[in-house]
Amino acid sequence: MGKPLKQYVAISGSTGFVGKNLLKFLIQKKLKCIPVLRSDLQEGELPPSKCSCFIHLVGTGNEIEDESFEKVNVEITRKAIDICKKSKIKKIIYFSGLGVSSKSTSKYFISKFKAERLIIKSGLDYTIFRPSYIIGNDDYLTRNLKKQIKKKKIVIPGTGNYIIQPISIKDACNVVHLAINSINFSKKIIDLVGPEKITFKQFLKNSTNNSNIEIEKIPSKKSIVYSSSHKKFPYSIEDLNILFGNFEGNHDKLRNISKIEFTKIRNI
Ligand SMILES: NC(=O)c1ccc[n+]([C@@H]2O[C@H](COP(=O)([O-])OP(=O)(O)OC[C@H]3O[C@@H](n4cnc5c(N)ncnc54)[C@H](OP(=O)(O)O)[C@@H]3O)[C@@H](O)[C@H]2O)c1
Repeated sequence: MGKPLKQYVAISGSTGFVGKNLLKFLIQKKLKCIPVLRSDLQEGELPPSKCSCFIHLVGTGNEIEDESFEKVNVEITRKAIDICKKSKIKKIIYFSGLGVSSKSTSKYFISKFKAERLIIKSGLDYTIFRPSYIIGNDDYLTRNLKKQIKKKKIVIPGTGNYIIQPISIKDACNVVHLAINSINFSKKIIDLVGPEKITFKQFLKNSTNNSNIEIEKIPSKKSIVYSSSHKKFPYSIEDLNILFGNFEGNHDKLRNISKIEFTKIRNI
């Protein structure tokens, strides 16, 4: 019997935090990963390949002049779908955000919701993940906290009593790997959340190892004002929308579908 054929997957956003980790993980699992470049996305075309799945990780949570939420989160998703159709890739896996819904009012959430709708209506097979904070080496939240710790002061916007449900990057990669082939993930929207809910305040305390870092609470309304008026304020308006949204995900659904043992927060 000959060697089994390698499975090919296309990955956009492979230079980002999730993309880098996922690329490494899937290569270890003996998959052939084809990074989808910015130029491929612009042209809406991929060089010929035999990909069976497109993992679409391009996204931004930070709107800047030429890179609006609409352009990056919605229009590039449209291009990703075009590429799937042209290249006969039958399945797309997308990273949206925990809390995204038809009732979302923030620009970031609205753009993610629009992208979800494009995918659902595309006719492709899909898995849409809605992640909470994904934690690993050099992730977005830890990077932010490390910067604050360096200055010996951490800011808690509002009460800090709102919930987050972090998931380890290793578990996230594991789940995506399963979703590439398993029918259980087919045409589903799944919260990508860890097994424990923790208040943001407690998460920060754990991250400082209870050392002598000053913790300053700034009332929510003031934080919202500071997010746009104080350049050095550590949270953007979209960060605050996510935190104050107090979104809780359905971990049981994820565990039942994936059947993996998830990492507890203290072990991430
Ligand atoms: N990490 C989390 O905790 C988390 C939580 C919820 C949702 N998500 C979603 O998960 C996805 C991956 O997250 P991440 O943490 O890996 O994000 P990231 O580190 O910011 O990476 C974003 C990726 O998107 C690419 N990108 C941005 N703008 C682009 C554009 N205009 N054209 C083409 N590529 C562009 C970046 O390419 P360059 O390197 O070239 O800039 C990078 O590869 C994103 O959609 C994010 O919204 C992440």
